[in-house]
Amino acid sequence: MSQLKRIIVVAGARPNFMKIARLVERLKKNRGFECLLVHTGQHYDFVMSEVFFQELRIPKPDVFLNVGSGSHAEQTAKIMTTFEAVLLDEKPDLVVVAGDVNSTLACSLTAAKLHIKVAHIESGLRSFDRTMPEEINRIVTDALSDIYFVSEQSGVENLIREGAAKKSIHLVGSVMIDPVVRMAKAIDRSRILRRLDLKPQNYAVLTLHRPSNVDSAEMLAEIYEILSAVSERIRLVYPIHPRTSDRMQTHDLLNQFTELKDLQMIEPLGYLDFVKLVKDSRFVLTDSGSIQEETTYLHIPCLTMRDNTERPSTVEMGTNKLVGRDKKVITKAVDCILTGKWRPGRVPRYWDGKTTERILDVLANP
Ligand code: UD1
Repeated sequence: MSQLKRIIVVAGARPNFMKIARLVERLKKNRGFECLLVHTGQHYDFVMSEVFFQELRIPKPDVFLNVGSGSHAEQTAKIMTTFEAVLLDEKPDLVVVAGDVNSTLACSLTAAKLHIKVAHIESGLRSFDRTMPEEINRIVTDALSDIYFVSEQSGVENLIREGAAKKSIHLVGSVMIDPVVRMAKAIDRSRILRRLDLKPQNYAVLTLHRPSNVDSAEMLAEIYEILSAVSERIRLVYPIHPRTSDRMQTHDLLNQFTELKDLQMIEPLGYLDFVKLVKDSRFVLTDSGSIQEETTYLHIPCLTMRDNTERPSTVEMGTNKLVGRDKKVITKAVDCILTGKWRPGRVPRYWDGKTTERILDVLANP
């Protein structure tokens, strides 16, 4: 591949920011590259976006597309039309996208149509569940990418099966682990436990925002039953995603959740506070993607409220177990954790904080 000098790195939604933080910093300091950071504005609140730029010392975006929320088609289309203008102006050699959010799909599609090369960080992951918007984003992005940065072995196998060229696939490990390692001291200095009046190991962390868990009143009712049973056993701390509080309000259920005595609902947290909260927790109950990786690295038990995962290594090697929305399975797993019977798990290859360095090596010698 010819030299990749002018690089646009894209970030749009919360889980993108930690993935590109170090990469942008390193590319901007390296004279061999000209790097522009484009923020699509998919996430725009202080707590969903700005706080990560501050804490992870991400340079101010060079371009802000300001697309905001909307239906999937609306959001994707807005990102595409605004990003196309940026590409036509800047004429980069490469666009780097990360993860599986709508910004990832929209920007890779726009670049590919203009014959600009695309590198995808966290490529090859598959849940094999096309009802998840993220799965569609992953499949389309990988079909259009030229360089694949893969976090775990399953990703390599998926890409090969789908016909990707072997020489374009680079198993570099999980970028999610890089800031956990790099910011370890700042994470340990977080005062979040004191602020929330918590003692290490005396609480569990909850995150829930997937459409498949929170979008209907029936699902939320099932979730309520589960949280009610779990919070009888241990205090649950829940930094609530705006989508979920929206849905609870729409279905007139917010008060019911608020009244659960040992469910502590709080605003979304910044990066340092959130990782500290997870690090000192007894376990995590979640439907997130990336948190499955962070908990495996930190050896914290993780119960994932989904029927599938695109990150099978966290189940096969790590601390993760898929529990769906099955109250029996969940309470049994919680009892097992609370009686100290959970496995500590092993950490997959290259989840060591040096993934960004491996990505840079590939970009410097394409
Ligand atoms: C997106 C990603 C999901 C990721 C999640 C992490 C897609 C398809 N989904 O889901 O993979 O796990 O981010 O947070 O890209 N909102 C705010 N403030 C914001 C952003 C959103 O209030 O800064 C609210 C709006 O009501 C919006 C809703 O959250 O309509 C959903 O936001 P959106 O970006 O569409 O998807 P997420 O559910 O956040």
